[in-house]
Amino acid sequence: MKSINKLLVAPILILFASYGIADEIHPGKEKSETCTGCHAIPGYNNVYPTYKVPKLAGQHSDYIVSALKAYQKEERVHKTMHANAIALSDKDINDIAKYFELLK
Ligand code: HEC
Repeated sequence: MKSINKLLVAPILILFASYGIADEIHPGKEKSETCTGCHAIPGYNNVYPTYKVPKLAGQHSDYIVSALKAYQKEERVHKTMHANAIALSDKDINDIAKYFELLK
């Protein structure tokens, strides 16, 4: 019985191992979790108050970087996005921007 178990377990472990590599977590994924609360919602309308939220998935990373830096410096004025951008480091911004560019 034991040897049969081993025969079954080995391929399952290999499967999990290769899945782990393929699904390697992008550094921007975790950092963008608060963002996707607004930016990944169906129809891109915030629930309340109702306003349009720009779609970020597939957006050019350069554009996202410059938009976030503009919100930080309040060159682009938007209270909510200023609040979201202000705590991000340059590395956070780059990671998040690259992550959103990869999303479809
Ligand atoms: C509470 C909802 C909310 C959250 C959370 C939020 N955003 Fe936004 N975001 C908005 C809205 C609304 C706009 C449109 C603002 C404007 O008109 O300038 C916007 C605009 C943007 C833009 C400019 C897009 C464009 O097409 O010009 C970028 C880039 C962006 N957000 C990135 C982020 C990132 C990165 C985070 C997380 C760190 C984040 N946002 C979190 C609501 C949100």
